[in-house]
Amino acid sequence: MTAGGAQEQADDVTPKDDLMERVVNLCKRRGFIFPSAEIYGGFRSTYDYGPLGVLMLRNVKDAWWKAMVQSRHDVVGIDAAILSSPRIWEASGHLANFTDPLVDCRSCHERWRADKIGDTCPNCGSKDLTEPRAFNLMFKTYAGPVEEDATVAYLRPETAQGMFVNFANVLQTTRKKPPFGIAQVGKSFRNEITPQNFVFRTREFEQMEMEYFVPPDESAKWFEYWLDTRLAWYLDLGIPGDKLRLRHHDSDELSHYSAGTADVEFRFPWGWDELEGIANRTDFDLLAHAGHSGEKLEYFDQATGERYVPHVIEPAAGATRTMMAFLLAAYDEDEVGGEKRSVLHLDPRLAPYQVAVLPLSKNDALVPLSHQVLESLQPLCMCDFDVTQSIGRRYRRQDEVGTPYCVTVDFDSLEDQAVTVRDRDTTEQVRVPMASLAEEIAGRLGR
Ligand code: GAP
Repeated sequence: MTAGGAQEQADDVTPKDDLMERVVNLCKRRGFIFPSAEIYGGFRSTYDYGPLGVLMLRNVKDAWWKAMVQSRHDVVGIDAAILSSPRIWEASGHLANFTDPLVDCRSCHERWRADKIGDTCPNCGSKDLTEPRAFNLMFKTYAGPVEEDATVAYLRPETAQGMFVNFANVLQTTRKKPPFGIAQVGKSFRNEITPQNFVFRTREFEQMEMEYFVPPDESAKWFEYWLDTRLAWYLDLGIPGDKLRLRHHDSDELSHYSAGTADVEFRFPWGWDELEGIANRTDFDLLAHAGHSGEKLEYFDQATGERYVPHVIEPAAGATRTMMAFLLAAYDEDEVGGEKRSVLHLDPRLAPYQVAVLPLSKNDALVPLSHQVLESLQPLCMCDFDVTQSIGRRYRRQDEVGTPYCVTVDFDSLEDQAVTVRDRDTTEQVRVPMASLAEEIAGRLGR
């Protein structure tokens, strides 16, 4: 548990260029991410994912699910309730410990996280600050019409507890044996004191977490395994090695449950900061829930007669934060044919569209043929279709949102039943028969 990312300090700060501004701008202009409730003046660092953002965020989550669940025999998924018994948060320690230290500035009345600002108010420079007090980050609400203590409930601040409280259910229904994992992707909520840096830290966000249950004497081995495996995931999806690192927490940084934690960090425009925490949570959570619920949460090996409480290795990533890192890493500006372009060198698995079908003109014969091409590719991947403006402008528009392939249907296509496939990164163009286009694109996408 890193309350509000208390361990997310940005050391080694590089000079802040305008990369962040350009990416935030692109996100708004091209429909990735909009400030929420903009027509009402916005709402406190909340964001809406637009037509392209929803595709990309889904791809990030799918890539995680594919690596963590689909491609493995030892991990299963769940989708637990966001609103559940407050006893979960009592047992997990969130009610008592999930706090950030909050200070008020007596001069301008702004509120700050004490651990982030030293002794001076960043807004007005005053040193007249209140003593820090613990502020619980969980959003409180009431289940049902009566607002009283008995109906208090909390929006989950992490998906992880859903896996612990379902441990026995999953064990019984899947007959898994440690080492095995339970994975979940979903929304979490934290009443962050200082949400900041676009979608890096927001009050509503999505997590991709997995709890990997192991025999206690194997926890060190599996901790190392998940460090390597999770770092490799980001590299495989195109984040360059010099923008990624693993940082081990010092002992005074460790959460109360952790026997070891390391963060996968990304070099954000403001410096190194956390993308994912990988923690050795020991048997803390299963013992805590067993103690509070009175249920046995352990593994019994019928073959050996052995009975034990598994230890847990937890790779915990943020989907929305990771999407932002992929955008920052992919953004580039270069020159094509003497013309400047901005381009997202996104891995095709993450790009909102894999293909854009572009009829050379709005000609009556070209458009229906282009629709045929579009329909032949739609079962394979997400396709855009654009007939407006010059073909050069349309290539630029697709480059800017990271579409790896453009398929152009021109007047020759009417004669030779072939189309031009253009590559976003090399801008190379090749002629491909329409009959083998789907196969060609599938090959390029590795499908
Ligand atoms: N179950 C452990 C846990 O939740 P965490 O380090 O607090 O650990 C895991 O959160 C990941 O969730 C972080 O590395 C980050 O990517 C993401 N995350 C946490 N708080 C966030 C916030 N306020 N906004 C966006 N992402 C957040």
